[in-house]
Amino acid sequence: MLTAEDKKLIQQMWGKLGGAEEEIGADALNRMSHSYPPTKTYFPHFDLSPGSDQIRGHGKKVVAALTTAIKNIDNLSQALSELSNLHAYNLRVDPVNFKFLSQCLQVSLATRLGKDYSPDVHSAVDKFMSAVASVLAEKYR
Ligand code: HEM
Repeated sequence: MLTAEDKKLIQQMWGKLGGAEEEIGADALNRMSHSYPPTKTYFPHFDLSPGSDQIRGHGKKVVAALTTAIKNIDNLSQALSELSNLHAYNLRVDPVNFKFLSQCLQVSLATRLGKDYSPDVHSAVDKFMSAVASVLAEKYR
């Protein structure tokens, strides 16, 4: 459960990204395809080489969705409803993969933010990404 303090930490941390959102999204996707190669099967139509236009473009979309989620942190189900439909019904992404992207995003954030990615922020982001993942997976039942 995200506490009020967790939400504050996430919002503050996100505010420190200062224009690096696209880069962070692309880095997270790049790490995901590298560290968890089976995730590549969902992107047969992508050029997955690091820094490709498709990785960058997609990274930007993923981070924009997370920005929306952070703005609507008390109402994630509604905010991510369309995305949840897409991942469950159209893309059929196995929910196990959400954890992989979450791990990779955390490494990207930590690399970028250094000391600002404190254990408290880490814990808050971990909870937030679990909440996002459960919304994205909730239509599978
Ligand atoms: C598409 C967000 C996890 C596979 C998208 C889009 C967004 C998004 C915003 C674009 C939707 C659009 O164009 O309307 C997220 C978020 C995730 C997540 C926030 C979790 C935190 C994953 C995972 C996979 C995946 C784990 C697979 C390993 C895809 C694919 C597309 C897509 C294949 C379509 C790409 C394309 O053809 O352009 N996702 N995603 N997603 N996502 Fe996710």
